[in-house]
Amino acid sequence: MDLRVQQASVTDIDTPLLVVNVFEGASQPRGDTAAVDTALGGQISRLIADGEISGEPATVTVIHNSGNGLKARRVAVVGLGKEAELEVENVRVAAALAARKAHELKLESFATVVYGAAANGLSVEDAARAMMESSILALYRYEQFKEATRSKHEVKSLTVINAESNQQQLDGVAELARITCDAVMKVRDLSVGPANFVTPTYLSEQARAVADQYGLEITVWGKDELRAHGMNAILAVNQGSVQPPAFVVLRYKAAGTAAKTLAVVGKGITFDSGGISIKHADGMEYMRHDMTGAATVIGFVQLAAAGKLAVNVLGVFAATENLPSGSAYKPGDVFKAYNGKTMEIVNTDAEGRVILSDSLAYAAEQKPDAIVDFATLTGACQIALGDHATGLMSNNQALADRLLAAGEKSGDRCWQLPLWKVYGEQIKTAMADVRNTGGRRAGAITAGLFLKEFVGDVPWVHLDIAGTAYADGDQTYVAPYNPKPGATGVGVRLLWHFCQAWKDA
Ligand code: BES
Ligand code: MN
Ligand code: ZN
Repeated sequence: MDLRVQQASVTDIDTPLLVVNVFEGASQPRGDTAAVDTALGGQISRLIADGEISGEPATVTVIHNSGNGLKARRVAVVGLGKEAELEVENVRVAAALAARKAHELKLESFATVVYGAAANGLSVEDAARAMMESSILALYRYEQFKEATRSKHEVKSLTVINAESNQQQLDGVAELARITCDAVMKVRDLSVGPANFVTPTYLSEQARAVADQYGLEITVWGKDELRAHGMNAILAVNQGSVQPPAFVVLRYKAAGTAAKTLAVVGKGITFDSGGISIKHADGMEYMRHDMTGAATVIGFVQLAAAGKLAVNVLGVFAATENLPSGSAYKPGDVFKAYNGKTMEIVNTDAEGRVILSDSLAYAAEQKPDAIVDFATLTGACQIALGDHATGLMSNNQALADRLLAAGEKSGDRCWQLPLWKVYGEQIKTAMADVRNTGGRRAGAITAGLFLKEFVGDVPWVHLDIAGTAYADGDQTYVAPYNPKPGATGVGVRLLWHFCQAWKDA
């Protein structure tokens, strides 16, 4: 979908659908919406008075225009909730529902005012950006493997009406929204892609394509190099698979020499059957998403390069399947990771932390200013926080606080769990330095503590995206920007916002 910003008056814009807004509890529309109401002969006010337009969040009312005071053929009035309680999330939900409405009405294009700005301290730029991103992301589809049932309609353009005179700023916001959504949608495509298609080799090729497009340095290691470098943990998980593993390092360099370096590390299990500790059949198909962390690395490096981020990014991921076979790794096996620490495998289904051990140790060795890892790591985290918060764990509270703040700002919200030493008792073993599971209790935390063994003293944040990588069930009213089949692309916007605040700190 094309995105443009046009300086115009709302009543003059020629469009099949014009989106305006109302707040809950307001008896009269205001601003642009009031101008449209007047042009519509007071229809919006009457619908408010009759209670048909409530202004509640996640509501849309479409009105046809039969008069001539307004050029738009239809008007959609979205609800933003109570003005005093406005959050940027209400703006995202409203914009996504409006975009879906345009699609449902089979329109080629639609236009919208920027809404929510000035209420509750929200700036025009932030409101516009949230709206733009949400509109694009709401119309995302994954139809690569559909033939007969592919949807025929496409909304081709969205015009954002600029009622003020900050055309340059809003053009910049639109450009940023565009490249951000490209990155988020790349993560979605990779995350949702079936495992017979998104293999470790395919992931490494996708990383290479980004490197080629932006002239970035990339290293891809296969089995031989992994062996030569002592990355035995990645090799252990790969033992049961006929697909070769891939270890990928992507380097984006910011302009100048003073920039900080952020290492972004991702879990790249292209399919997680559990291995010898095999999973139940129910829902196992979702384990095609188990490489979302690696996809996030690819997507974020792409965004960093496209957006000329002022932070160096070291993207690292290991990719492999986790399958049972005669050669698969087994409970009771012991392996030595890249940093020399040994681990006892107690459950082969706790494979994410195993491949991350080598990846994190490699990243730490590069001495970045910080490491952030993304992993669909534990069912425990998914159960604890559900769809709406990523589990955050860290060895550095200042860094954790920055990611928590970026979560609020970007909408990719995070919630911290403690990495208290006492939980570490659960991953002690007589057999090795550490064991790969700590039992069912505090499963997200013991996984985090396992990872902590491999980052040395580099400031590090672990993000468990098991619950947030894909949206479960019908998200129409809670997160309409996450359409089916449900991959969200969580993390890309989080890191962008984090870097903007961190780069000069
Ligand atoms: N990939 C799974 C975690 C997961 C579960 C992600 C549900 C998304 C949705 C991970 O590899 C796993 O199997 N974890 C085990 C760990 C356990 C064996 C200690 C789990 O959470 O059950
Ligand atoms: Mn597993
Ligand atoms: Zn897994």
